[in-house]
Amino acid sequence: MECLYLVTGNENKYKEASEILSEYGIKLCMANIDKLEIQSPRLEDIALFAARIAFFQLKKPLIVDDSGLFINSLKGFPGPYSSYVYKTIGYEGILKLMSDKDNRRACFKTVAVLVYPPIEKIFVGETCGYITNSPRGSGGFGFDPIFVPEGYNQTYAEMGIEEKNTISHRGKAFRKLGLWLAKNLPGFKGNNPGSNITI
Ligand code: IMP
Repeated sequence: MECLYLVTGNENKYKEASEILSEYGIKLCMANIDKLEIQSPRLEDIALFAARIAFFQLKKPLIVDDSGLFINSLKGFPGPYSSYVYKTIGYEGILKLMSDKDNRRACFKTVAVLVYPPIEKIFVGETCGYITNSPRGSGGFGFDPIFVPEGYNQTYAEMGIEEKNTISHRGKAFRKLGLWLAKNLPGFKGNNPGSNITI
């Protein structure tokens, strides 16, 4: 039986994506391999390139998810550089950069690329909201403690995974992916529990 791999070392990302795809009867496995990231202002280019390279290594059906936080008053920064910015200055650094900004509007975007030759499909999800003045909540990961989605009062980090998934950028992208698989490859469930890979 085949496995559908999510290329990531991030357990939280894997949990979120697994819960969403399970709504479509699809079981995800995790491939913890180095994701090779090119530099580009477009998440679509970064994710597609990483997905092709990952398929070259794994030769198994897979998904690469590349996400970014785009902050209006910082002209879209950190956007495609979100991973590097998180590792270097973290969300505390973002709050400092925004200490004199009244416009707190920001959007999270996920690009999920499915590679299952000859299929190569891109699914995009976006959720906008605002950046808080200080961190709140202990759940989730990354910039979750400083992002409140529009129409809500809680940060992503104050929500449970289920609630975050119903409104999040990743939730939107992976539901599109799940729907597409259910419609176009109804027999493909990716079932193969316990087949995670670490390289
Ligand atoms: P990645 O390259 O897709 O793994 O994500 C880029 C950066 O954005 C990483 O530092 C993540 O921690 C952060 N990030 C990605 N998705 C989320 C999310 O759902 N919530 C908060 N931060 C996220």
